[in-house]
Amino acid sequence: MRKEFLPFAKPLVSEEAIADVADSIRKGWMAMGPKTVDFENKFADYVGSKYAVSVNSATAGLHLAVMALIKPGDEVITTAMTFASTVNAIIFAGGKPVLVDIDPHTFNIDVKAIEKAITPKTKAIIPVHFAGRPCDMDALEALAEKYNLGIIEDSAHALGAQYKGKKIGAGRGKNHIAVFSFHPTKNITTGEGGMVCTDDEDAAEIMSMQRQNGMSKGAWNRYQANGKAHYDIFKPGLKYQMMDIQAAIGRDQLKHLEEFNTRRREIVARYQRELANVRGLILPPEIEEGNVHSWHIYTPLIDIDTLGFSRDDFMAQMSKHNIGTAYHYQALHLFTCYGEITGLKAGDLPNSEYVSERIVSLPLFPAMTDDDVTDVIEAIKEICGMKG
Ligand SMILES: Cc1ncc(COP(=O)(O)O)c(C=O)c1O
Repeated sequence: MRKEFLPFAKPLVSEEAIADVADSIRKGWMAMGPKTVDFENKFADYVGSKYAVSVNSATAGLHLAVMALIKPGDEVITTAMTFASTVNAIIFAGGKPVLVDIDPHTFNIDVKAIEKAITPKTKAIIPVHFAGRPCDMDALEALAEKYNLGIIEDSAHALGAQYKGKKIGAGRGKNHIAVFSFHPTKNITTGEGGMVCTDDEDAAEIMSMQRQNGMSKGAWNRYQANGKAHYDIFKPGLKYQMMDIQAAIGRDQLKHLEEFNTRRREIVARYQRELANVRGLILPPEIEEGNVHSWHIYTPLIDIDTLGFSRDDFMAQMSKHNIGTAYHYQALHLFTCYGEITGLKAGDLPNSEYVSERIVSLPLFPAMTDDDVTDVIEAIKEICGMKG
């Protein structure tokens, strides 16, 4: 039994990043400024997009992206296996969310189900790269072209992931946007924060303005020695921009991303190898050839029929071993409000419901030691009755 609680996720922030935050505070420029611009440029270079618009969360980024691509009353198709903010972004942009089922192996959106759900009102699709496993972008882009739809990749889990040799977030043309999250559990963090990447100049421009109340110029452009105080507003906006004290952390985190993701992959390789024969555990499939998984979360299924206990029982047992786990996600249509909004009920999206009842996220973060990983594996073997 571990003495110290092992959380399911924990950020790893360097002393350099902390010093850079202190520098912003001492200099007296904490809000969006030069460090934010620098982080955006570095991020765009890393993923390979023309534009990177920083925001104060992926939730904000998704909202801006949906507003940029649809009009109120339009339908937007997304997966039921995602976080609430994917769907909240559609709703708050005035759109109608249409939830479809997932592929039961990859947990990514089922492209065939999307095509069945398309109506003349459909204007965009939001695929989610679940856990950091890239969706089938070729199939999604073929659909988008056939029906003239925008694509917003919810890439909250997918920083560092690659689809057919191209990073998730790399520019994929007009009406195509990718949104990343820097929440502390994610592959890199800024505390709260996010980034919206696109090659679509019009979308980038409108999102840049709408993140700062619609203003054509931010404070950073206005308050410099030679800055001009006047600005215009073409469309109302929200207060969604990132601060320099966040970007100070983010630009340092980005330097460490590859090493963080390498460590994530090492831990996952041990889980895949050492949990392979554990009774009652269904492990994620290996990554498709030619793609790179970013392993934001590691999510086996608890085979409740074989084990005779529920996923929640499994999680409670893990807590008794002083090990944290998490739940990503309850299928969205099973929440009261999304059931009401979409008209979907239990039984309508069987794959999402099957996964939702069994899925659990095991501890996975770069600072996990080999002993931590051993503790998780040993605890699971004991819980599933395979010890010895
Ligand atoms: C799939 C998905 N989309 C969007 C978000 C929202 O990210 P943020 O917390 O940065 O708003 C999350 C966060 O957990 C997520 O997992």
